[in-house]
Amino acid sequence: MKTSSFRSTFRTDKWWIEPLLILSGLAAFVLYASWAGYQGNYYWWSNHEHGFGGYLSPFYSPLLWIKEGVEGGADIAHAWLGPWPGWWPNSILLPESPSLLILVFPLSIRFTCYYYRKAYYRAFAGSPPACAVGAIPQKSYKGETGLMIFQNIHRYTLYIGIIFIFLLSYDAVLSFFRGGQFGIGVGSMVLLINPILLGSWTFGCHAFRHLVGGNSNCMSCSLVRYQTYKKVSWLNSHHQLFAWCSLFWVGFSDFYVRMVSMGVFNDINTW
Ligand code: FES
Repeated sequence: MKTSSFRSTFRTDKWWIEPLLILSGLAAFVLYASWAGYQGNYYWWSNHEHGFGGYLSPFYSPLLWIKEGVEGGADIAHAWLGPWPGWWPNSILLPESPSLLILVFPLSIRFTCYYYRKAYYRAFAGSPPACAVGAIPQKSYKGETGLMIFQNIHRYTLYIGIIFIFLLSYDAVLSFFRGGQFGIGVGSMVLLINPILLGSWTFGCHAFRHLVGGNSNCMSCSLVRYQTYKKVSWLNSHHQLFAWCSLFWVGFSDFYVRMVSMGVFNDINTW
């Protein structure tokens, strides 16, 4: 049997199930995130018009500029830079959505993550689709020196990911308040779990593991470094699991806030 043509293999198991599931999961996320990011509405919910607190979709955080008078939009007081600028083209490709200003940053760490590279090389590029299975033939193997050379920025996008953990943790705190009054809602729990899962994925990053200890010749010289390295190594060994859990949950968080903001879901809470 030839093993050099696409999908040819000696494997007798159902090897195609995993790439098919990955393809379906990633495609569903990309489609939903793109759709939600382009809406520019129903990304915020609070039953108090003013004051500290409310639910903010992670796809829209941080709110740099805010378009006022939008259904399910946040109060202008939550904008970091103020009202939406008049020079924005506001076309079908570039609607006035705060999500479009920031979505590229969290996506940059996802797209360059070592686990996701494996996932989309297999599921989308068939390069190869699984271990010991024939790949789509290429003229020559270029590794990550060709089109995908930008993936090497992952050691820097890691810092972007860490900044977003802090931003989304702040949003989680925000979700426990309404008009400055403390309380708990289902949405508070949803938005609290989000940065925990994202942190479990980000702090298990291979580049982060290198930073906290992998670059050292003497691991036992510092107890703090050794203990940190061990914890990061545990997260790293579950990186694939947290990559999927955090991906699902960030999408679900947007969906939950959107449904509550639209009045489809009734948020159970103590306010
Ligand atoms: S390797 Fe996955 S986030 Fe860095």
